[in-house]
Amino acid sequence: MSKLLVTGRQKLSGEVYVQGAKNSSLPILAATILTKGESVIFNCPNLSDIDASSRILRYLGCKVERSDHTIVVKSDDVCRSDIPDELMRKTRSSIVFLGAVLARTGRARLSFPGGCEIGLRPIDMHLKALRELGAEIKEKHGYLDCSAPYGLKGTKISLSFPSVGATEDIMIAACLASGTTTITNAAREPEIVDLADYLNKCGAKIYGAGEGVVMIDGVSSLNGTSHTIIPDRIVAATLMSCAASTGSHIMLRGVIGSQLESVIPVFEETGCTVKYKDGDMEFVSPKRLKTMKIVRTMPYPGVPTDAQAPLLAAACVADGTSVFVENIFENRYRHTSELVRMGAKIKTEGKIAVVEGVQSLYGASVEATDLRGAAALIVAGLCAESDTEISGIKYLERGYENFEIVLSSLGADIKKV
Ligand code: UD1
Repeated sequence: MSKLLVTGRQKLSGEVYVQGAKNSSLPILAATILTKGESVIFNCPNLSDIDASSRILRYLGCKVERSDHTIVVKSDDVCRSDIPDELMRKTRSSIVFLGAVLARTGRARLSFPGGCEIGLRPIDMHLKALRELGAEIKEKHGYLDCSAPYGLKGTKISLSFPSVGATEDIMIAACLASGTTTITNAAREPEIVDLADYLNKCGAKIYGAGEGVVMIDGVSSLNGTSHTIIPDRIVAATLMSCAASTGSHIMLRGVIGSQLESVIPVFEETGCTVKYKDGDMEFVSPKRLKTMKIVRTMPYPGVPTDAQAPLLAAACVADGTSVFVENIFENRYRHTSELVRMGAKIKTEGKIAVVEGVQSLYGASVEATDLRGAAALIVAGLCAESDTEISGIKYLERGYENFEIVLSSLGADIKKV
């Protein structure tokens, strides 16, 4: 099993391009099922979650070719509507295949999705919405058996929470439904906008993506298209956290500043300077960070829950006490016990974490148990005195492409063994 070895106390410097967004790539790959013809997806990161989606597409009958960061999907010959349990368990976002397969074939049989253990992660909103669109769904022995005998039919859907996955699933399913679908309390994340951009280029009629109300006029068919995935704002926030904890000066290339608008003030509060122009972000951290005071995760445009773990790791070495309130997932502080092994002073109670900054962390042998928690351990390892050994890096590889190579290019002493 691979591990990462990090020798701390090295300053980062230089520039890196930020990879394409995992959370855009996954729903867009699922949405290719709706199309006839070829979709060419550029800037798709090489990640195990993307491998899992490609395997699902191939199983369903699509032709999938990958080279470097481009994926070409031909969905003319979709011939199945089931997804085996083994493939569904690889990633949580496999649930967006439900709406896509159902809309394309009129049937879908798949098991409950897997993914990181960061909370219960129910799919009730997905199922309720698809039923409202006319699907018949039976839940039995861990499997979902879905059919739309009379086709899906546009309707008004109101989400009880702006779930990212449910908004995507509904948007995808509604593209080929008859009539108009309106989603109120829709998620507004940039990845929703990216998905809508892809689908609209294929011929879909989606209006208002990125706002609280999204309207989809159903069309009878969709073509393939070419599309470039947006940069990954969470990877950008992680790199900013790495630079912040180590007192470094780096340049992030190819980012979209507006998508980081909630995160930038958190860093500015700690004394970091952030300058953004035309896709380039210059980030300078002071010798010692000031506290983050209070960080509340919220649906977009709030501070993303996915950035909480790396931000919290940087707060461990700030001068004073920072408070985190995790409002999205109920089990998202699992990395804190490992950070405590490295000398961090953190107390958690339910959705609250109180982080009392220390002068310095020290290296230890630690284990990642989820994707963003793994990133947090790297942020900590980079600034720690002595060496840190991080196991469980299969979680990191779900969302960060060659992260040790990216960090090495910035001067970090980190290697995979
Ligand atoms: C997506 C992202 C994930 C991010 C999360 C929140 C992808 C592949 N993953 O996950 O990285 O952390 O958004 O920004 O894009 N919920 C329900 N019932 C449902 C669906 C969700 O109760 O049917 C709850 C969840 O348990 C959670 C909250 O709603 O507490 C938000 O979940 P959601 O926005 O759906 O997250 P995901 O789409 O799973």
